[in-house]
Amino acid sequence: MRKVKIVGINGSPRKGRNTAIMVRAALDEAAKLGAETEFIEISDYKILPCLGCNHCMKENRCSQHDKDDMAKLGEKFLAADAIIFGSPVYFRNVSGQLKTLIDRTRWLRFPKRLLVGKVCGAIAHAGLRNGGQEETNQAILSYFMVQGLIPANGGAVGTMWDSQEGDAIKWKKSAAEDAVAMESSRALGKDVFRLAEKMGKSQS
Ligand SMILES: Cc1cc2nc3c(=O)[nH]c(=O)nc-3n(C[C@H](O)[C@H](O)[C@H](O)COP(=O)(O)O)c2cc1C
Repeated sequence: MRKVKIVGINGSPRKGRNTAIMVRAALDEAAKLGAETEFIEISDYKILPCLGCNHCMKENRCSQHDKDDMAKLGEKFLAADAIIFGSPVYFRNVSGQLKTLIDRTRWLRFPKRLLVGKVCGAIAHAGLRNGGQEETNQAILSYFMVQGLIPANGGAVGTMWDSQEGDAIKWKKSAAEDAVAMESSRALGKDVFRLAEKMGKSQS
């Protein structure tokens, strides 16, 4: 039987840091269950901003498809059974890098909805304990729902905040030290895999 394919993107411009650690943890968990996984650093790809030209409404292709790496990323999404977006929280929302990528995927929606029925997952990492992780995951999941993907769960969350005594805040060194970040990422990886597997079986 064909393996479940899961693509995970680190939407932080900082390679290998907190968001990346969480996305990798989700993918590693899914791989343990039998998934074929691909980890993508957003900063390895050239992604131009959307021009708003509406070319994508006429055919499933962006007017800038040959000018950057977005077509390549789109092909990866099309080949996947499930997609995970991870983002650092930037002003209670996704990073500009991830938003630019999101806007450039409109050609996958018009006129044929090419991503419908795939499974998705969201991961957010913030500096503060209540720094906007849920809002950021919600922004990612709202995007996925517009594209017709099915969320596996509410999203994984992590923070640098460790504890506070008086005015002094103690920060964690990385997401790897954050039990909630790591456990919620692993749970997400499991849920994404299980749902994608079920969806695959129901379609075959
Ligand atoms: C432009 C910018 C905006 C940020 N906004 C927030 C915020 O709203 N809430 C928060 O808790 N942390 C905020 N942060 C901190 C990042 O979310 C935090 O450093 C996160 O761990 C970065 O993830 P990374 O290590 O994967 O790059 C912001 C950082 C930057 C650079």
